[in-house]
Amino acid sequence: MNVLILGSGGREHALAWKIARSRLLTKLFIAPGNAGTLHAGVNVNIQVNDFAAIGEFAKKENISLIVVGPEDPLVNGIHDYFLNHPALQGILVIGPGKAGAMLEGSKDFAKEFMFRHNIPTARYKSFTLTTLSEGYTFLESLNPPYVLKADGLAAGKGVLILQSLDEARTELQHMLEGKFGASSKTVVIEEYLTGIELSVFVLTDGQSYKLLPEAKDYKRVGEGDTGLNTGGMGAVSPVPFADAAFMQKVDERIIQRTIAGLQIEAIPYKGFIFFGLMNVKGEPYVIEYNVRMGDPESEVVFPRIESDLLELLDAAAKGILSKSSLVISKQTATTVMLVSGGYPGEYAKGHEISGLDNIADSMVFHAGTKPTNDGKVVTSGGRVLAITSLGKTMGEALEKSYKNAAIIGFKDKYYRKDIGFDLTS
Ligand code: AMP
Ligand code: GLY
Repeated sequence: MNVLILGSGGREHALAWKIARSRLLTKLFIAPGNAGTLHAGVNVNIQVNDFAAIGEFAKKENISLIVVGPEDPLVNGIHDYFLNHPALQGILVIGPGKAGAMLEGSKDFAKEFMFRHNIPTARYKSFTLTTLSEGYTFLESLNPPYVLKADGLAAGKGVLILQSLDEARTELQHMLEGKFGASSKTVVIEEYLTGIELSVFVLTDGQSYKLLPEAKDYKRVGEGDTGLNTGGMGAVSPVPFADAAFMQKVDERIIQRTIAGLQIEAIPYKGFIFFGLMNVKGEPYVIEYNVRMGDPESEVVFPRIESDLLELLDAAAKGILSKSSLVISKQTATTVMLVSGGYPGEYAKGHEISGLDNIADSMVFHAGTKPTNDGKVVTSGGRVLAITSLGKTMGEALEKSYKNAAIIGFKDKYYRKDIGFDLTS
């Protein structure tokens, strides 16, 4: 079968790398892709929100399955677009329709969904500019720190955690007045949860689901989890504290209730669900839902899947996932993200990358790279390359990732040297 992946980051390179190994695959396309996805398939110069161009291309190339990487096109309704166009109806899409994508597209919807289905999450209330004074009163009822979340998508920047009540009041007003544009016209204020975060993923056809390997990502730019939030500076899988007892709670209280909730509300869902969880003294709480895979989590999750991923995606898209099986490697996967100096603030692009051909025992997933006409690879984003390795232990995998992180060069390269620091016992 012919497959089209939408997106251009490390997540999409990891997906492409894995799908390229499928026995079901005839031809793989990635739109728009990057300098790494070129080695797994054919890059196509179409942007992920250009549904008309994607539809035409899919028809022309006889695509059977589209795998949507990022959330944006899902929230914008790409799945519905394919279902509603008679000429495109035979083309299956991995990723929920607009209704399911609300789990990520609206924090308020997600919180209400969790309360309707008794899924553990932080206590919350939502406010708009007309209920600003009630918002102040709710803030006063909470203990610091204060968590304010823009309701809509805000490119990962819509969550503020504030230490003082004064700051929280000021920011609430700024957000409601449009600090994040339309995204923050509604703001969710929630109770702060203290614990350790992890990312849990399932692939579902809306009825049954497969639990994928869990992962932990390192979001802060600085060592020791300090400094600004980024898209993710590294990840590991498995997560040692996610033992059988903890994962059973996650399964019973969170995953099963979420899938059942989607069924009860008649929301079709064929795709990935990413549960951003907090482990609070051994009890799991949902911090957020995402309707896609994580990045850089994908760069450690897909390398641990031994089964044919395309077969699973195809089964999910057809609604027959329960017939498939999923085998997961016992090895540990680690990934270390090489980023452009200055990220997540301002940074330069276009620096030549060296050493890519000298990597033997790691996989290099491209996140922000571009090929040049003369065969070179240059930086084109904040997150540039994810260096993934497998090992019997986390230490063994990290040693390979760090050895290879040092071999690759580009001007102002930066990476955290302490990925996994909090997981060694
Ligand atoms: P989100 O975009 O919802 O994942 O939020 C971004 C980050 O803010 C999360 O990864 C957490 O580190 C933090 N966060 C969000 N909600 C809470 C909460 N209720 N308690 C503590 N930390 C939170
Ligand atoms: N690594 C977190 C995310 O993909 O949202």
